[in-house]
Amino acid sequence: MSAPQSLLVKACRTQVVERTPVWFMRQAGRYMPEYRAVRKQYSLIEICKKPELAAAVTITAAEKLGVDAAIIFADLLLPLEVMGLQFRFSAGEGPVIDRPIREEKDVAALRTDNASELGYVAEAVSLVCRHFGARLPVIGFCGAPFTLASYMIEGGGSRNYVQTKKMMYRAPAAWNELLGKLVEVVSEYAIQQVEAGADVIQVFDSWVGCLGVEDYRRFVLPQSTELIQRIRKAGAPVIYFGTETTALLAWMKLTGAEVIGLDWRVPLDEGWKSVGQCGMQGNLDPVLLFAHWGEIKQGAAEVLRRAGGRAGHIFNLGHGILPETPVENVKALSEFVREQAIERIADPALKA
Ligand code: CP3
Repeated sequence: MSAPQSLLVKACRTQVVERTPVWFMRQAGRYMPEYRAVRKQYSLIEICKKPELAAAVTITAAEKLGVDAAIIFADLLLPLEVMGLQFRFSAGEGPVIDRPIREEKDVAALRTDNASELGYVAEAVSLVCRHFGARLPVIGFCGAPFTLASYMIEGGGSRNYVQTKKMMYRAPAAWNELLGKLVEVVSEYAIQQVEAGADVIQVFDSWVGCLGVEDYRRFVLPQSTELIQRIRKAGAPVIYFGTETTALLAWMKLTGAEVIGLDWRVPLDEGWKSVGQCGMQGNLDPVLLFAHWGEIKQGAAEVLRRAGGRAGHIFNLGHGILPETPVENVKALSEFVREQAIERIADPALKA
């Protein structure tokens, strides 16, 4: 940990802070001209695998926006490669796995002894930590077992997750073996990032909201809990994020994550109420950043009003910044949130 006294780390521990920390998912991305310039020369994977480049992209985005954390530039799917599953990015289509996992034997063939080959991400983390020192915390990240399994099985993004759920329901032994293998590799990968100096780890379970509560409890919660507990034991607080999770929130909290990340569909105070005592990250609609400033400002003020000054709020969007987003709106939003003094609300029932 390189910035233990930062607003972000304090908020993760639900300690009282002077103002609400703010950062954005996908804060380094195609909406930013500096990033597009780097992408003219290098592919996404090349940037991820060159620690100096990944660190530079991470640092540029955090400094340009003036946010309260730098999230390491990497991709969710990198661990698939060290498990023996090749993937590529096709323009406009997102990630593609040409030979997805469909049968028990595909699961059995996956390797778990190769996580050290992901060391380039930890190297980038340590470069960013060295750059910022105690000035700015660094967020490492990894995918949650369900979301990574869904890419491995579907071969890319999906609408109904039919293949994924088919394995879950029809071959529960293979499903459990797959998630167990993911926990092994991904926990080692996340811990490498913590040991390199990451202050906080965000676990992305972006697509877990496609599950009903019973299926989440039965097929996903034990493995997500195991992953999150291993990361916490390594010394970093965990932010556990998913989308369309309104029905799952209370169960997601049982993983032991310090902070739950909300998407924009649920009002922040309602989401917080259903989770209970916990840190809460979110949750402005990323598409609101395409509106006029007056609307954006009102939306941001509403998120802060709903947070109500409770300890543990981290301001973010409800999902990542989209490619065409106007940069000046992202900058203005970061500035606006940093200018707001925390107003503690009168209703003691809402206080943490
Ligand atoms: O937040 C940050 O600034 C760090 C960078 C980051 C990237 N991917 C870089 C990236 C993070 C946190 C991720 C996580 C990630 N990757 C997730 C979870 C977050 C989420 O959105 O829920 C997922 C599902 C992936 C897999 C992935 N990688 C997808 C679906 C895509 C989009 C494909 C597309 O064409 O839009 C990517 C590509 C990707 N990863 C980009 C970036 C900046 C954009 C593509 C590029 O630069 O070529």
